[in-house]
Amino acid sequence: MKIKKASKVTGIIHSPGDKSISHRVALISALSNGENIIENFLISDDTLRTLACLEELGVDIELSEKLKIKGRGFKNFQKPNSTLYAGNSGTTIRLLSGILAGQNFNSEITGDDSLRRRPMMRIIKPLRMMGAKIEATGNGTAPLKIYAVENLNSIEYELEFPSAQVKSCIIFAGLHAEGKTKIIEKIQTRDHTERLLGLKVSSENGKKIIEVEPGIKIENKYYLIPGDISSSAFFIVAASIIPNSYVVVKNVSLNPTRTGFIDVLRKMGAVIELENVREVANEQLGDVIVKSGKEINLKNLTLSGDLIPSIIDEIPVLAIAGTVAEGVFEVRDAGDLRNKESDRIKAIVSNLRNMGVDVEEYDDGFSFEGRKKLKGTLIQTFNDHRIAMAFSIAGLIAEGETVIDDPECVKISFPNFYEILKNIQS
Ligand code: S3P
Repeated sequence: MKIKKASKVTGIIHSPGDKSISHRVALISALSNGENIIENFLISDDTLRTLACLEELGVDIELSEKLKIKGRGFKNFQKPNSTLYAGNSGTTIRLLSGILAGQNFNSEITGDDSLRRRPMMRIIKPLRMMGAKIEATGNGTAPLKIYAVENLNSIEYELEFPSAQVKSCIIFAGLHAEGKTKIIEKIQTRDHTERLLGLKVSSENGKKIIEVEPGIKIENKYYLIPGDISSSAFFIVAASIIPNSYVVVKNVSLNPTRTGFIDVLRKMGAVIELENVREVANEQLGDVIVKSGKEINLKNLTLSGDLIPSIIDEIPVLAIAGTVAEGVFEVRDAGDLRNKESDRIKAIVSNLRNMGVDVEEYDDGFSFEGRKKLKGTLIQTFNDHRIAMAFSIAGLIAEGETVIDDPECVKISFPNFYEILKNIQS
């Protein structure tokens, strides 16, 4: 894929369905006792993996214009005939393991080369505390072997570090446990699972407490999935860093645990407005409007601490915004970026260096001086969808031609990314 410098980006964008919410709605629907109708479900490689795994577990799924999932209720899945395959999807393997841990049959789940490198002890530890029988490789990675248990026990567990996937895994296991499970979260992470399940949430000494009652009745429902704000972030950044741009992203999720990057861009000086903000099924959504003037006058910041979980997926594209802004752009406390679909710190640092930016790399982040003219080059995506999309946006501001080595990998979360990019740039 070749990307050329753009003079502006303009247009109205309908972002695909939110990836995190799509995975969760599929899993929750499978645990309900009737037919669920789901509109704007994200059709991408990752979310299709969740559906395929559920089908292997005997769940009836029909995918046409809308998605239909017929739930089987608790502890009523069928033993799969073969190893479940989560592909590239950390959300599939980590959330589904919470459900598999509570079943009365053995199962095995694995993924592609990237997923088999990612750490699984973070879910294995709390699941074992609940009485789950689960084994990984000697490195604590997939394939995971999960053995039948009669029952899981409830736990009180403080998350060791902020991860919505770990939290959600324990919530799903807690639904299959005896007694009330309590999860304590020091730093907020995306809260779609607790919202969708309507769990009791409170706060104590500045920490969030999530309570999971076992076997709650999950109603069959109609779901409307809002657009994905993380996918929209690529265009929101593009319109913030290219002069004379105007972009509207319609009906996108504005859940406050996901919109940290909008706050960051606004602090940097970008002009971003929210319109038609409303609540549907316990989630906020609305339209995002981004405008830029004749000149781009953004200022750089340090991104660190409790802010990191709310911008974790947007750091690659925020780094691209950092290259046009004045001052030092710095990311710290983000070591978990090395455990994503690729080592994202390495991927950002090496590609920015190849585009001519003098980047300092740290264990937990990176920094560089902004106001740097990027030069087009060959971008190595490391098979990581968000690296491909972030550096495609870099290509819009770079001199000369930018070539993305593996554009196909955007199918993981955003199959029509390049079609939209082509339509809005001039
Ligand atoms: C996700 C949580 C985050 C995020 C990932 C999706 C989710 O991962 O990076 O893209 O849907 O729960 P962690 O929980 O590992 O931080």
